[in-house]
Amino acid sequence: MSVLGLTCTRCGAQYPLEPMFFGCPACADKAGGAAAALTVAYDYRAIASGLNVEDWGRAGHGIWRFDALLPLRDPAAQISLGEGNTALVRPRAVCEATGLSNLYIKNETTNPTWAFKDRFHASSVSMAKSLGYTRVTASTTGNHGASAAAYCTAAGMDSCIILCHPESSMLQRDMIALYGGHAFVLEDRFQYLDTLIRDHGYYPSTTMTPMPTGTPFGIEGYKTIAFEIFVQLGGSVPDRMFCPIAAGDSLYGPWKGFSEMHALNLVDRHPVMHGVQPAGCNPYVQSFQQGRADVIVHPDPSSIALSIRDDTGGPAALQAIYDSGGDATDVTEEEIIEAVRLLAQSGYLVEPSSAASVAGAIRAARTGRFASDETVVCLVTGSGSKWPEVMSELVDRDALVEPSWEEIKARAGLDDAPQ
Ligand SMILES: Cc1ncc(COP(=O)(O)O)c(C=O)c1O
Ligand SMILES: [Zn+2]
Repeated sequence: MSVLGLTCTRCGAQYPLEPMFFGCPACADKAGGAAAALTVAYDYRAIASGLNVEDWGRAGHGIWRFDALLPLRDPAAQISLGEGNTALVRPRAVCEATGLSNLYIKNETTNPTWAFKDRFHASSVSMAKSLGYTRVTASTTGNHGASAAAYCTAAGMDSCIILCHPESSMLQRDMIALYGGHAFVLEDRFQYLDTLIRDHGYYPSTTMTPMPTGTPFGIEGYKTIAFEIFVQLGGSVPDRMFCPIAAGDSLYGPWKGFSEMHALNLVDRHPVMHGVQPAGCNPYVQSFQQGRADVIVHPDPSSIALSIRDDTGGPAALQAIYDSGGDATDVTEEEIIEAVRLLAQSGYLVEPSSAASVAGAIRAARTGRFASDETVVCLVTGSGSKWPEVMSELVDRDALVEPSWEEIKARAGLDDAPQ
C-alpha cells in the first residue's frame, strides 16, 4: 500500500488515514501543547516502482491523473469538476517591466470556481465522502467556501455550511448558495466550526491553520500544482517559486509536491520558495525575520488583499521556506495594485491576493535578488472576476457614459491626423 497514513508535521508521530481534525494528539497532550498539523505520508519506494510519469502529461479527470501520489486510489471515489490543467504562461507586461524572460505565472484562475482552491476540495471532499461523511463545513474569506460548496454538490453531500468573513464578496456568497450550500457571515467563524465538527458530524474542509488544524487531505490536491509545473517545464523544476500566503498551504502544498518528486528521484533539486504577504498583514515575514519555528499572530491585519489577510498561519509553510533556502517577504498595497494592473495589461484578470506573488517577484527582480535568466514561477491563485467591488475600485469610470466625440478622442488619446 503506497499511502502509509498520517504523520505529525512537528513530532513525526504516525497515525492511520482517519479523520483527525484537531491535529496530533501526542503534541496536544504535552504540557501547554498546541495543535500540530498532520500530513499524509507515502511509501515512495513502492510508488516509484509503479510510477509512469508519461501519464502525468495526459489531460482529463482533473487532479486524479496524479493519483499515485494522492490519498485516494479508487477511481469511483475520486470527485472532479475538471480542476487543474492550468496554463504556465509568461505575462507579457510583467516580463517587460522586470526584464525577466523566464518569469511565468501558473494561472489558477481558470479552475472551475476560478481559484486554486478547487484542487484542495477535489482531494478533501473526495476523502470526506470516502470516510463516510455527508456533511461538510469550512471557514472562508470567499474563494475557499465557494469552491467547497461546488465540490460538495458534486459529491452529493447532504449539507454544506460555509462560515464567511464579513468582507467576503457578495458574489462569492451567492455562488455558495447557488451551489446548494448555506453561507453565514460571521466575525468569529471558529466559534461554530468546532461545534459543527464535534457535535453535528461535519467534516471540516478547511485549511491547516493552527486552531483547529483542519484537514490534511486538501493539501494533497495542492501538490498537483508542482507536478503540473514539472511536466510543463519539460521535466524540471523552476529556480524559484513565489506564493501568496495566508494559512500557508498555498506554499506548503506545492513544496510537498516538489519534495515528493525529489524523493522519487524525478528531480535532483527543488525550487527556492518565497512566501509573499501584504505589509499590513505579514505574520510569516516577522516570524521569518526572527528565525522562529511558529508563526506569530499579527494584531489588526489590513490590506486590499482580503484572501491573504489572515492574522496567522501554519508552521509547515514556514519550515518549507527555511528548508528551501527561501524567504517570506512583504509588499505594499501600491505594489500589489501595480501587479494587478501589469497582469491585466498582460491579459490576466486576477484578484489582489493573487497578484501579491507577482508583486513579490517584481520587488525581488528590481532589487537584484536573482539572476535575470532564472526560471521563476508565480502562483496566481484566483480570478478578479469574483471580486467585482474590489476590481471596480481600480478603474476610473468618469465620463464613459454617453460621451461626446471630443471626450472619446481625449480619453483614447486620438489626434486629428488621419491614420
Ligand atoms: C486567492 C487566494 N490566494 C492565496 C490564498 C492563500 O492560501 P493559504 O491560506 O493556503 O496560504 C488564498 C486563501 O484563501 C486565496 O483565496
Ligand atoms: Zn505531533
